[in-house]
Amino acid sequence: MSQVLLITSSPRLESHSSRVARTLADKLASHAGSNLTVRDLTRRPLQHIDDSFAAARNTPSDLLTSTQKSVLSASDELLRELFAADTLVIAAGMINFGIPSSLKAYIDHVVRPGVTFRYGEKGPEGMVRGKKAYIVVARGGIYSQGPMQAYNFQDTYLKVALGFIGITDVEVIAVEGVAFGPEAAEKAVGAALARVEAVAA
Ligand SMILES: Cc1cc2nc3c(=O)[nH]c(=O)nc-3n(C[C@H](O)[C@H](O)[C@H](O)COP(=O)(O)O)c2cc1C
Repeated sequence: MSQVLLITSSPRLESHSSRVARTLADKLASHAGSNLTVRDLTRRPLQHIDDSFAAARNTPSDLLTSTQKSVLSASDELLRELFAADTLVIAAGMINFGIPSSLKAYIDHVVRPGVTFRYGEKGPEGMVRGKKAYIVVARGGIYSQGPMQAYNFQDTYLKVALGFIGITDVEVIAVEGVAFGPEAAEKAVGAALARVEAVAA
């Protein structure tokens, strides 16, 4: 039994990252005994974390007040979903050089001391183990090589954040250069979908 978790985050309705990620997630979940859970961060946005969240996340679970438990309830739900998944497929369009704010809010909810990471003798240790993650990114320009490479805070950031909580087996599938016209966009989507076919085969 394999559990696939698809996380979409684009603010755009005609999202390339969501389309490619959905195709991949559907294919992975179509294998016998697999299940798909969809977390759409645009349709069901999370609240930005605040002072009460910052305090509650640092409070040992046996000392949490009932108010603090309710502050953490959305985060707890996301974590149940995350720990239950074997494979993550995360769709992220590039917004101002980084990830959509909806996805940043998700990261802020799932990076939890004592739950998804802890500090050991050798420094921070991720506690979300044994997952495979695919990050499907879309962006107007080209950032995988050339002069804009240093401005990519999208998949580079996501890999750091996922790695911090223990998700280190990560593949990036990129839809790049969609701002260079419809033909370029179709070509970029086609290349990403070809990689999806290969991954899901
Ligand atoms: C508000 C906004 C900001 C954007 N910022 C960038 C950017 O910094 N660099 C870039 O290459 N493309 C940028 N784009 C273009 C998107 O990355 C591109 O449309 C991509 O396809 C978005 O992903 P999606 O198709 O999954 O929505 C931006 C688009 C929007 C709407």
